[in-house]
Amino acid sequence: MRPIAVIPLVFSIVAFVLSILCLFAGTKPGYMEEYHIITVNTSGLGQNLFKQSAAPSATTPACTKPTSLGSLISGAKDCVEGAASNAVDEIQNIANEVAGDIVDKLSQKIGIKQFYSLHLMNRCEGNYKPNATDPSASKNVTKCSNQTAMYHFDITTPLNAELAKGPLNLTLEKLHFPDDIQDGLDGLSVGLNAIFVFYAIGIASSGIVILLCPLYFFFGLPMLTLLNSCLASLSFTALIISSAIVTVVQKKAAGFINKYGGKVGIEAYPGGKYLALTWSSVAFMGVASIVCAIDYTALKRRKRRELSEKGEHGRC
Ligand SMILES: *[C@@H]1O[C@H](CO)[C@@H](O)[C@H](O)[C@H]1NC(C)=O
Ligand SMILES: *[C@@H]1O[C@H](CO)[C@@H](O)[C@H](O)[C@H]1NC(C)=O
Ligand SMILES: *[C@@H]1O[C@H](CO)[C@@H](O)[C@H](O)[C@H]1NC(C)=O
Ligand SMILES: *[C@@H]1O[C@H](CO)[C@@H](O)[C@H](O)[C@H]1NC(C)=O
Repeated sequence: MRPIAVIPLVFSIVAFVLSILCLFAGTKPGYMEEYHIITVNTSGLGQNLFKQSAAPSATTPACTKPTSLGSLISGAKDCVEGAASNAVDEIQNIANEVAGDIVDKLSQKIGIKQFYSLHLMNRCEGNYKPNATDPSASKNVTKCSNQTAMYHFDITTPLNAELAKGPLNLTLEKLHFPDDIQDGLDGLSVGLNAIFVFYAIGIASSGIVILLCPLYFFFGLPMLTLLNSCLASLSFTALIISSAIVTVVQKKAAGFINKYGGKVGIEAYPGGKYLALTWSSVAFMGVASIVCAIDYTALKRRKRRELSEKGEHGRC
């Protein structure tokens, strides 16, 4: 009997559950939504452009290449013909209409949601309640994309799809949405794949530790203890790596979005609770693996004579 085996058993179970939650947080609307990796607040998307166009602007006689939606509109009467001018008039109308409480109504007017939250395996979206500008606003998730094993952060695809379906048939290009944002997020894809793989390794090996712990408890064989100790260390290491990458990826993604998105009115918020969750799983697995390693050393010292294979220790 090795009663000490109860400690790694309990700690591995907690680490196992926490790391599974890291994978599945946010896969259903409202399910652990606050454990997002990044939330992008799009309620102000296009705000600057619409504000510009709502303000009285000097007439530009020359037909110059428009540099913003505002100048596109002011020059529209002279430069844009046919169907396109109708769309531009419509934008002008909307701009006048929403000029007052622009932030809360804008997203609805252009057909998008007020926030998009990026999770490890999917994306969710919805509107703030009671409204986007309320200081104590909370999220009302309306839908989540299907989960995929190696989800890549993508904000432009859903936005473009919804803008196209929206009443104004806008595109992100017309809103001057910088390419740097999605380019930056695309650069994180390798990291996101790695996070998934390391969680999978961490979860699988902590699962085996959980299965081996009862044997370890009843028999306490050095071989079994060694195996358990190796697997616990493997899980611990894998969880450290995934948590470290997710910490970096989160910081970078929020950085790209806030750096380039500020001028088109979007903001990103990194989710602190997700980091707390993933680093807690690391801490629990750390205790399990340290206890396993200490007990293996103790056991080996006691049963040194029974240990026939000398090379084993070096392997771990
Ligand atoms: C947002 O909600 C708060 C609280 O319900 C309200 O006081 C405020 O006027 C609302 N703002 C807008 C722009 O509707
Ligand atoms: C979302 O962004 C808008 C515009 O940038 C800001 O006014 C609003 O307070 C933000 N809402 C939340 C809930 O963070
Ligand atoms: C949340 O969103 C749903 C679907 O858009 C809507 O029916 C519901 O009223 C919203 N809830 C709140 C509290 O705003
Ligand atoms: C999501 O999954 C459902 C059912 O599992 C399927 O019917 C639907 O087509 C999927 N949607 C996408 C976008 O893959």
